[in-house]
Amino acid sequence: MPVKIAPSILSADFSKLGAEIEAIEAAGADWIHVDVMDGHFVPNITIGPQVVKALRPHAKKPFDCHLMISPVDPYLDAFAEAGCDGLTVHPEAGPHVHRTLQHIKKLGKRAGVVLNPGTPIQAIDNLMDLVDLVLIMSVNPGFGGQVFIESQLKKIEAARQRIDAQKKIDGRDIALEVDGGITPQTAKQVIAAGATVLVAGTAVFQGGPSHYADNIRALRG
Ligand code: DX5
Ligand code: ZN
Repeated sequence: MPVKIAPSILSADFSKLGAEIEAIEAAGADWIHVDVMDGHFVPNITIGPQVVKALRPHAKKPFDCHLMISPVDPYLDAFAEAGCDGLTVHPEAGPHVHRTLQHIKKLGKRAGVVLNPGTPIQAIDNLMDLVDLVLIMSVNPGFGGQVFIESQLKKIEAARQRIDAQKKIDGRDIALEVDGGITPQTAKQVIAAGATVLVAGTAVFQGGPSHYADNIRALRG
C-alpha cells in the first residue's frame, strides 16, 4: 500500500482556506489534516467546528481532525457533525481515553489516538482493539515548522509491532500516522519505520499552489 499524504492546513494561507484545500486536493492529497488547538492543551489557537463545517464542501477527501483541546469530550459531536471523518485524541485530553474512543466509534467516525513525544508507547496497549489509527507526534504539538525529533523513530517501530500483532488477532489494518517535521528526508525514515500516513504542513505548502503537487510527490518516498 502506498503511503498516504495528509497536508496540515495549519501551514495554508488562512485568508483563503477554501481555495487552499481545493488546491491540495487537486495536487494529490489523500487526507486533509485539520489541527484543532485551544490555547490551553497546546499554546496556540486555531479553528473550531464552524470553520470545519464551512470548509467541508471544498474537498471530497477525508477530513482527518487532530484535536488538541482539553477537555475534548464535550466537542466530539460538534466536530463529527461539522464533517470530520476521523477524530484523533490525546490520552491527556480527558479522564477516560477509552470512553472517548468508544464515543468516536459510536459517532461512526475513524477513531484515532495520538501520542506526544514524551508519552510512552504503552499508552496504546489497552486501546488496540478499539482504535482505527495511531498517530505518533514527531514534534511537540502546537506549531508547524518544528524540527523532527529523531527519538520518535523507535516509537514508530514499536507502534508498528503492536499494529501488526493486532492484525493477527482481528485482521484490521490500523493506520500508523506520523505528524511533525516531515520532509522528503524524514519521510523516508518514518516510512522505513512503518508509517502509512504522513502529515506535513511546511513541506507541502512551501512555495505556494504551483508547488503543491511536486511537494506532495516528494514525500511519497
Ligand atoms: C502540530 C501539528 C502538525 C503541524 C505539522 O501541532 O499537529 O500537524 O502542523 O507541521 P509541519 O509539517 O510544518 O511540522
Ligand atoms: Zn496535527
